Amino acid sequence: MSRSSEERQIPFEHQRLAEEELLIRGERIYQRLRSRRSLRAFSPQPVPREAMEWAVRCAGLAPSGANQQPWRFVVIGDSALKREIRLAAEEVEREFYEQRVTEAWQEAIDPLGTSWKKPFLEEAPYLIAVFALTYGLDEQGERTKHYYTNESVGLACGFLLTALHEMGLCTLTHTPSPMGFLSRILNRPPNERPFLLIPVGYPAEGATVPDIGKKLLEEIAVWHE
Ligand SMILES: Cc1cc2nc3c(=O)[nH]c(=O)nc-3n(C[C@H](O)[C@H](O)[C@H](O)COP(=O)(O)O)c2cc1C
Repeated sequence: MSRSSEERQIPFEHQRLAEEELLIRGERIYQRLRSRRSLRAFSPQPVPREAMEWAVRCAGLAPSGANQQPWRFVVIGDSALKREIRLAAEEVEREFYEQRVTEAWQEAIDPLGTSWKKPFLEEAPYLIAVFALTYGLDEQGERTKHYYTNESVGLACGFLLTALHEMGLCTLTHTPSPMGFLSRILNRPPNERPFLLIPVGYPAEGATVPDIGKKLLEEIAVWHE
């Protein structure tokens, strides 16, 4: 007999902070997150595998629709695989920049100074290819429906980027389009859809980032009090 949802509850561990401390922490995390930037020039300096394990564990703590945790993180440190991924990404990105990009899209990415060239996919010590599990498989191998897959995987990626940033590591949120080559090269099953490709590492010497800003609180928040 299955237990009722009430019986399946466990005590919620929560440490309440004094208001002053709460605000100090709010500003502290804001200042820390402010220094996160998307990096496109990586140093080959190695990163311990254990750091990647911690980051992926953190990503796995994200909330997800019906707790289905519809994600897979493929961590790639192998040089030959990284090269293969770079070449495949450059092929699709070259076609994008030379043929498929619309005028409006080009205008939107102009400030970033990006091109089809993706040397960072080989230079970064690790790549994390994130896959969204579009459906699950039960013990009989039958398909099970997943709910809110995109929202869930997006949240997990937010946790992942934040954890890596907290460890002093840099990332790029990359979406070479289309990303089907990742399924082929990494030999992923049909229910795993490529979601993001994230190089991880340290900045190359003299690395720069685009001089772009973030919207102010007043521009992104609406209050009803
Ligand atoms: C869903 C998503 C896809 C992105 N795809 C790319 C990409 O393919 N190539 C790239 O150089 N940057 C990509 N970016 C990075 C954005 O350009 C970057 O986050 C934005 O310019 C803000 O800069 P910041 O991350 O340094 O704050 C992507 C970001 C997101 C969230």
